[in-house]
Amino acid sequence: MEPKKTFYITTPIYYPSGNMTIGHTYTTVAADTMTRFRRMQGYDTYFLTGTDEHGQKIEKKAAEAGVTPLQYVDKIVAETQELWKLMNIEYDDFIRTTEERHMKIVQKIFRKFYEQGDIYKAEYEGMYCTPCESFWTPTQLAEKDGVKVCPDCGRPCQPMREESYFFKMSKYQDWLIDYIETHPDFIQPAKRANEMLTNFLRPGLQDLCVSRTSVKWGVPVDFDEKHTVYVWIDALSNYITALGYGTEHDELFRKYWPADIHLVGKEIVRFHTIYWPIMLHALGLPLPKQVFGHGWLLFGADRMSKSKGNVVYPEPIVARYGVDPLRYYLMREMPFGSDGNYTNESFLTRMNADLANDLGNLVSRTVAMIEKYFGGVLPAWTDAVDEETDKPLQEHCAALPKLVDEQMNKLQFSQALAEIWKVIGECNKYIDVTQPWILGKDPEKKDRLANVMLTLAECVRFAGVLIGPFMPSTPARIFEQLGVTDEGLKSWESLETFGLLPAGTKVCKGEALFPRIDVNKELEALSGGKEEKKEEKAAEKQEKKEQKAEKKTEKKHEEPEYPAEISIDDFFKCKIQVARVLACEKVEKSSKLLKFRLGLGKDGERTVVSGIQKYYEPETLVGTQVAVITNLKTAKLAGIESQGMILSAMDGNGNLRLVSVGDGVEDGAIIG
Ligand code: ME8
Ligand code: MG
Repeated sequence: MEPKKTFYITTPIYYPSGNMTIGHTYTTVAADTMTRFRRMQGYDTYFLTGTDEHGQKIEKKAAEAGVTPLQYVDKIVAETQELWKLMNIEYDDFIRTTEERHMKIVQKIFRKFYEQGDIYKAEYEGMYCTPCESFWTPTQLAEKDGVKVCPDCGRPCQPMREESYFFKMSKYQDWLIDYIETHPDFIQPAKRANEMLTNFLRPGLQDLCVSRTSVKWGVPVDFDEKHTVYVWIDALSNYITALGYGTEHDELFRKYWPADIHLVGKEIVRFHTIYWPIMLHALGLPLPKQVFGHGWLLFGADRMSKSKGNVVYPEPIVARYGVDPLRYYLMREMPFGSDGNYTNESFLTRMNADLANDLGNLVSRTVAMIEKYFGGVLPAWTDAVDEETDKPLQEHCAALPKLVDEQMNKLQFSQALAEIWKVIGECNKYIDVTQPWILGKDPEKKDRLANVMLTLAECVRFAGVLIGPFMPSTPARIFEQLGVTDEGLKSWESLETFGLLPAGTKVCKGEALFPRIDVNKELEALSGGKEEKKEEKAAEKQEKKEQKAEKKTEKKHEEPEYPAEISIDDFFKCKIQVARVLACEKVEKSSKLLKFRLGLGKDGERTVVSGIQKYYEPETLVGTQVAVITNLKTAKLAGIESQGMILSAMDGNGNLRLVSVGDGVEDGAIIG
C-alpha cells in the first residue's frame, strides 16, 4: 500500500496575555475544519497550535497580577486548552514556547545562525533610562524642557552603548524576492504577496535586531547569557521544534515538514513570509508550501483585541446555542481572506435561516415523509424516474464533493458551505415541486414517491458527510434520524456514488436539529436586555463610514498606487506644515487611533486623528514636531473631526517613524 499523503497545518501560537477571543477561535476553527476535511479524504494529518509565552508584555502582565510569568501563563494556557476542547478542536499537539523541548532547540538554532555568520554582534549608541532599564534610539526619545527624556517614565536618559545581535536579513533579500515571484501559491491571498514585495522586500530589508538585553523573560542566548532571543525568532521556530527538529527524535519532522499551510491573521503575514522563510533557508530547510493570511473579525469599528477590551468571547455563545452553530457561522459568514463584522444579529439570523430552516427543515421533512408514506422504512429505487425533476438534483448532489473539494483547496470555507447549501436549497424546492403529499394520495404514484424519498434521503446523507468537518457533532444527529448505521455510508469515499442508501433503512424522527429562535428575544438576552435597536443601527452605520475613512488613513502604508508623474502644481496643492504636538491621547474605544492637538504657530491650533496608536505611547509625542498636511478635506474618525494628516513612514522592522524636521524650525512653517 502506498503511504498516505501527509497534511501539516498550523495556527499562530497565541499570546497568553489574556483569554482567547472569538478572533483566535476563528483561526483555530478554520485549521480544525481543514484538518478534519483532509483526514476525511484519507490524508495523514497533523495539526499544531500552541502559545507564545515569552516577552515583555507577558512579563508586565504577570507583574501587574503579582505572580510569576509562568504562573500567569499557566492559568491562561489551561483555559485556552479548555476552550479548544469546548470548540471541539482536535489538535495533534499544543506547543508552549516555555517548554524545554522548544527552548533548547531555539538556542541551538540561534547558535547555528551565529556560527555560520548569519548573526553578528554590533554595538550602537543611544540613550538609556536606568530606572526603566530601557534603551532608546534617538527617534524614540521624548523631550521635556529641552532635555531628552525616557518616553516611558519621562526621566532623563544617559548616553550609552548597547550591544545586540543582528540577523543579516539583507543577504537573503534577492533570494526571497525570487522565491516569492516563482512560487505564486506561497503567499495567499495573492494580494498579500504583492504587499510584501512592494512594501518591504523591494525597498530593501534591514538587518533585524534579534536579541534583547532588556527582556529577561525569554530564551537566553546560550553563548551570551545577558541576551535573550527576540520573541519572533523564538515564536516562529515552534513550527519545527514541535516536530522534534534538531533532536534525535525527529520522525515527525521528517514525516510532516514542510508544512502544507501556516494559517495566520493578516497582521502577521510579514513575519511568516519574510523572517520565517529566511530563517528556514539559512537552516537549509524547505519552506512551508503556503502561508495564508486571513482577514479580521471586527467588532464594531475595530479589530477585536485583548488589550483594548472590545472583544467577544465564544463561551457564552456556545453555552446558549451549542458549538456547531458558532463554528458554522465563523466559517460561513465572511470569505476567508476578507475582514468581516461579528454581530449577534447576523449570527442569530444565520442560525434561523441556514440551520433551522434550510438544513433542519430538510432533515425533519424528509424523515417525517418517509415515516408517513413508507412506515419509516426506505423503499427500493423504482423505474418511476422523472427526468426533469429527479435527475438535475441527483446529478448536482453527485457533483457536490468535487465542488466542495475545489473550494477547500483554496481555503474558501464559506464558498464550500455555500455549495452544500445550494443543494440543500434545491432539495427544499424539489419537495415543493414534486409535492409528495399529492403523490401520497394516489396509490399508483407510490413508485414515483419512492424515488422522491430516496433522492431526498440520499441528498441528506451527502450533506451529512460533507458538513462533518465544519460541524463535527451534527452528522451523528442526522445519521441517527436517517437510520444510517453503516460507517461506510458516512465516509468521503461513499460519496463517489449517488444512491447507496439501502432499501430497508429505518428512519427515526428525532428532535429538531436546530430549533428556530426568536431573534429579537435572543438579541435582548445577549445584550443583557437593553437593546436599543434604532440607535444602534444608526451608530453602526456611522461606524461603518468611519471605518472606511480609517482604512484610507491606513492604506497609505499598504497599497501605494501612484501616477507615473504629477506636475509641480499638483504637488503645491498639498499644504504641508510643521506642527507642534500640544496634546495627544488615545481615542476611547479605538485600538488604532490617537487624537492630537497640534499647534501651527500663528496659524492657530487644530485637531488631527491618526491611526498610529499601536506604534506610540501618546505622552511620548507631546512636545515633538511633526509634519502635517493641513489643507486635507476633514474626515470624521471615531466621531472626531480630523483636520489634517500626519506624515509618517514604516521602517524595516515594522515600526512607524514620524516625519520630522531638524531643530529650530518654527511651528507652522511650510514644508515644500
Ligand atoms: O500574534 N480576527 O499572537 P496573538 C481574526 N504570538 N483573527 C484573529 C483576531 C481577529 N479579531 N484576533 C486574533 C501573535 N486572531 C503571535 C503569533 S506565531 C509564530 C506568533 C488570530 O495572540 C489571528 O490568527 O496576537 C491572528 O494572527 C492571531 O490570532 C494573533 O494572535
Ligand atoms: Mg497580535
